[in-house]
Amino acid sequence: MKLSRILSNRNGVSRRQANLLIASGHVAVNDAICREPAIEVDRFSSVRVDGAIIQTGEHRLYLMLNKPQGFLSATVDDSHRTVLDLIDPDLRPDLHIAGRLDRSSTGLLILTNDGHWSRQLTEPRIKIPKVYRVSTAYPISPETPQRFAEGIWFEFEQLTTSPAHLDLLSPCKARVTIYEGRYHQLKRMFHAVGNRVTALHRERMGNILLDDTLAVGEYRPLTTGEINLMPD
Ligand code: URA
Repeated sequence: MKLSRILSNRNGVSRRQANLLIASGHVAVNDAICREPAIEVDRFSSVRVDGAIIQTGEHRLYLMLNKPQGFLSATVDDSHRTVLDLIDPDLRPDLHIAGRLDRSSTGLLILTNDGHWSRQLTEPRIKIPKVYRVSTAYPISPETPQRFAEGIWFEFEQLTTSPAHLDLLSPCKARVTIYEGRYHQLKRMFHAVGNRVTALHRERMGNILLDDTLAVGEYRPLTTGEINLMPD
């Protein structure tokens, strides 16, 4: 929201008065005087007028969870446990999931209240790599890496998936990197080459690696370094 709007909304001052207050150096955003009425200020920034607090600035929250099987990547559900059930109730309000995993999938799940940040992780156009360890019902055929690299046609969305990379680990196991996060993406890609996924574990999103000291079901805040690994 524009700075002048925050002042006028909260205090019943006119937009013109707000502009004057800002231009004359009475307003601080995150403790620095700001003279630009049209600047966009998010809910995580503090705003003060002559030292008096107008907007506190919410805490940004970024969590990494080692997701167990059987938990839904949703914030509420009538019939299944959700990943939010694993998070301290005080932290739950406002959290959303940055890139869902299927109920049966495990591994790295990121939760945050910062929508701008999480869009960098999940927007298909931004092409952040997501790395999965995949187990399959049948041996992975020799043409699978090439088919994935060429992209798989998804009839429902009428699109071809971005080139994906497959490293064979054993006849029925692979490490696969995809650059989108479409609905059941890997299950559908393996189905398209006549195979079936039996287990899926996410190891990495962008440069954020699942912390191997986290037990299944445990979570921790992302470090500043991990948060900053995302492109702007
Ligand atoms: N692809 C899938 O099919 N499922 C997941 O949970 C993640 C990627």
